[in-house]
Order: sequence, then structure tokens, then C-alpha cells
Amino acid sequence: MLRSHTCGELNKSNADETVTLCGWTDRIRDLGGANFIDLRDRYGITQIVFAPEAGEALLKSAQKLRSEDVIKVIGTVQPRPLGQENPKLPTGEIEIRVTELEVLSKSEVPPFTPNQHELPNEDLRLKHRYIDLRRRDMMNTLMLRSKIIKSMRDYFDTHNFIDVETPILGRSTPEGARDYLVPSRVHNGSFYALPQSPQIYKQIMMIAGYDRYIQVARCFRDEDLRADRQPEFTQLDVEMSFIETEDILSLIDGLMAELAKEILDLDISLPLPRMTYDEAMKRFGHDAPDLRFGMEIVDVTELAKSCDFKVFSEPANSGKFVRGVNAPGAAANYSRRKIDELTEFVKGNFGAKGIVWFKVDEEGILTAPSAKNFSAEQLVQIGEAMDAKPGDLLLFLCDDWNVTCRGLYGLRKRFGAELKLYDPNAMHFSWIVEFPMFDRDEEGDRWNAMHHPFTAPRQEDLATLESDPSGARAQAYDLVINGFEAGGGTIRIHDGEVQSKVFSLLGMTKETARDRFGFLLDALSYGAPPHGGIALGIDRVVMLFAKLSNIRDCIAFPKTQKATDMMTEAPGDVDEAQLAELGITIVKPETEEV
Ligand code: AMO
Repeated sequence: MLRSHTCGELNKSNADETVTLCGWTDRIRDLGGANFIDLRDRYGITQIVFAPEAGEALLKSAQKLRSEDVIKVIGTVQPRPLGQENPKLPTGEIEIRVTELEVLSKSEVPPFTPNQHELPNEDLRLKHRYIDLRRRDMMNTLMLRSKIIKSMRDYFDTHNFIDVETPILGRSTPEGARDYLVPSRVHNGSFYALPQSPQIYKQIMMIAGYDRYIQVARCFRDEDLRADRQPEFTQLDVEMSFIETEDILSLIDGLMAELAKEILDLDISLPLPRMTYDEAMKRFGHDAPDLRFGMEIVDVTELAKSCDFKVFSEPANSGKFVRGVNAPGAAANYSRRKIDELTEFVKGNFGAKGIVWFKVDEEGILTAPSAKNFSAEQLVQIGEAMDAKPGDLLLFLCDDWNVTCRGLYGLRKRFGAELKLYDPNAMHFSWIVEFPMFDRDEEGDRWNAMHHPFTAPRQEDLATLESDPSGARAQAYDLVINGFEAGGGTIRIHDGEVQSKVFSLLGMTKETARDRFGFLLDALSYGAPPHGGIALGIDRVVMLFAKLSNIRDCIAFPKTQKATDMMTEAPGDVDEAQLAELGITIVKPETEEV
């Protein structure tokens, strides 16, 4: 070992000991005559002092030190002079009087320093990730991540799960995104697909009788990236046999309670609340609602039917919906200009036609330019339906179901943050259950699997699966934390015939199903136990537990929104020879898109 202690562990009880420390030079202060340096490593910061008594040669060497040099020092631990202690640092009571210095590695002038107050732009941080990762915040997050993964593994170990690794080079597993493909050299013209999840493998493990499986699994999805999505991310992947929905939910309830206690010292009461998908869409317009605050959607379609105001009555009488939210106390601060901004927001992002709005005056009366189109009684009824109080701002969308859901979800989310309707430190866990089996793709005139094609319908929907696909509900469940989907899972189909039926409903011919999933259909025919599981997005769980808003800050080497690695500059070109071996010719697009 080059060092006797880390930079985070010495205190007054070590006074007068001779110690050897290694680390990076953080803050350097030259106080004429003496040099004070904060020596930093993963464990903390220790102040080291080069005092005149140590001799001129040593002082001179110390004066040559620059930010981010790596050094080794030998010295004695001394209590700091009275009044110079730093109560914020665990090592703040002491300093090291250096007697020997060795420079282990000099640093170029860094593009930014780990201790600088203002963060540089993210591209620079990602390009020089080795420096960014030295920042205390990044270190804390990655240590938290490690702790969370360890707690997860321990939890499943005590529940008798076994950890199994499944292939990275495999065949496509549909999870709704595009695959990353890997060309095969040996089978020229053929491709492996990187797993979007280990879904089929874990099901096969159940068919093989392994009963309780977990894996900390890397998944790859070529999809549009957002603040909570990465092209490669990590799941805590779980599968169990001889179970029902209830068993998975209570297993994960227990895990969340343990994590909340261990990581945040938070007691959460179990079982976690549950809400059906239909209820979530009605009340919040989304299947991952943020339940830290109210501001629920109210449906006034019935009321709107008899209004003279055509913007309300026409959609209401033609199968569309008039639904709204009440932004509490927002009337005063939302000028016409700000409401125009909200209108552009719902038009641009959610395809809504506009917003009908009212402000509630001091007497509780609804006022707005459009109020003249309503009778006084109708205004009172609308106010009552919305639980309107003086000072509130009421906003309505009049559109088809999906547009009202999306738009009001967007408005609710925006108001939640703007009006500070929740405590940013609060943690709210819940389950959304009974998702529809299928999603209608109107353009493609076909059904898509809402979760994935291996999801079992509710028992009571089996008989009507083919005659009424839109009515079928799945044995599916999502874990939602603070408005983010933190995990999702389902009970699986363990009957080959039902599986074939679902493939066919999804528009697959028998031949296609056989070609893509023949091995699964075969496996299902050799004794498949009832089984089900879930996958938690570890990066998202870390993001939520660390109270961060960007998934990239929870991953050591993340990709940008454009799926590039700024540091290694992946994806990159490859040799002509490599391509030739793979039988691949690159056809460059004729005109570059600007
Ligand atoms: P699903 O697709 O819902 O289910 O994924 C499970 C969880 O993984 C996380 N997640 C992501 N995190 C970061 N970046 C992404 N691009 C990304 N995509 C998903 C989310 C999500 O809830 N095989 C099924 C699970 C099962 O049925 O057991 C699956 O993968 O937190």
C-alpha cells in the first residue's frame, strides 16, 4: 500500500501519528510562507500544510503543485489551531504537517476543476468524464448506486433468488424499441440483436425449473432519448414461478420499504397504494401519475353538452370530452400572456386545439372573456364541479380522450412544478395495475402489445380476447415513483395456444411467429409453470432516490441525447477490412440531412 490512511478518516484521536496519504490536489492556498492544500480522494478531503519549518526545498516543491496533481505525502497529524477547525469536514479538526512530498503524477491544466462552483456545460463534463467523476456529487451518486444494487441483491438473496446471466448476443426480444444489431462474421449476412431485456431468457429459466431468478441486466434500446432514458441502461430483472400478481407486488413492496429505510431513512407504509390504469387515465391523464399532489382531472362533458358555448357543446355532443384541471391560487399570477403560452404548450406538444379558461374572482364567480357564453347557473355548476375557490385558475381541453389525457397531464405536471404543489423531497410509491392488453395503432391499422407479447390477459378476459381486444385487460403492473415509471412487469402466458393467439392478434402470421419465437412456443409445450416477473429500471431508481432529474448523472459513462459517448466518440468508423470480413458495404446517403 502506498498510503497508511485515506483522506477521509483522520481526526483528533490520531494526533501526533505519522501518516502517509495519497490523493489529488484540490484547493491550493499559498499564504506566503506556508502552503495549504486540500488533498482529495474518494473518501474525503484532508488539509495538508507545508510549513516553513519543513525546509525551503519542500516548500518550493509544494509551490510547484497545481490543481489535480496526484501526490503522496508523509507527515504528522496535528490538531488545527484554535478557531481554524472546519466543522463541515469529518477531518476538519486536524491537518497534516508534511515532512515528505512525492509527486506521483502531474496534471495538465484541467478544462474544469472538480470543486468549481459553477458546473461547466454537460458536453465538456462528458468529454472529460474522468474529471467530472471526481466531483463529490458524482462520487456520492455512484456510491449510492452501488449501495442500492447491493441492497437489491441482498434482498433477493434472502428470498432465495438465484442470479443468472443471460446472453448479450441473442435474437431480438420485442420491448417496443428498435434493436441494436451486431453483424456476425461467421454467419455472413446474419445479425445478433442486443437484448432490449432478458425477457424470453428469464421465462425459459422458469420453464427449466429455476423458480426464482434475478439479474442485474444491461438492456439496449435504440429509441428517442429523454432525460429519463438511455440507449443502454440497467434493469433489476426478476422472474418467479407458481405465483400471481399479488406475490410480485408484495415482494417489490418489501424491497421498496427496505430501500427507503436503508437509503433515505424513510418509513413507508405497505402495501403500496394501487390504482387501475383506467382510473389513472381518468384522474391524471397518464399511466405514471405524480401522486405527490392532487390537482386531479375533472370531466365536465355532461355539463358541457347543454351549454350554448359551441367550443364546449360540439365536442361534448359528438363523442369527445370536456375535461379540466383547477390550478389552485394561480389566477393572479397567470396573465393573459402566460395563458397564451400555456395554449401554445398544449397545442405544440399534445395536439390540443386550445384552452378554455376561467379565473375565479373574490366572490367565487368564474370570469373570462368566454364567460359571456354561459348562463350564471352553468358557471356555478362548472365552478362546483371543479371545486373552484377564489383565486383559482380553471383550464379545460375539449377534444378526444387521448388529447385531453395528454394535454391535461402536461398542464398538471407543469403547474405542479410552477406552483410548487409538492415537497421536492417527498417520495411517493404506487402501483398502476390492469393495463389494457393492446394499444391500437390507427395508422398501421393493427394492435400493439401494451407491455410485450408474452403478457397474460386477465383470466376473465381470455374468452373475449379475439372478439374484443380493446376491452382485454392484462395481468400487468407498473411501479410508479414520483411520476416516473420505475418498473414494470406482468404475469406471463404459459400456454402455447394462448401465446399463439396473442401473436396472431398482433398481426403475426403462424410462419412469422414460428420463425421468430418457435423456440419459445416449443419450450412452452414441454411443461411450463405459471410464472411472472418484473424489471425495475435501476438508473431511474437511483435518479429518484438521489433526487436528481437527469438519468445521465446516475451513470458513470452515459450517452448523450444523440446516443454518442462524448469521451470515446462512439459510435465510430471501423476499418474497411473489418467491414469486408463482415460482408458489409456502407451506402452513404446521397444528401446529408442538415
Ligand atoms: P419495461 O420495458 O417496462 O419492461 O422496462 C422495465 C423498466 O426499465 C426501465 N427502462 C429504462 N430506463 C432507462 N432508459 C430506458 N431507455 C429504459 N427503458 C425502460 C424503466 C422500466 O419501468 N421485460 C420487461 C419487464 C418484465 O415484464 O418483467 C421490461 O423490460 O424503469
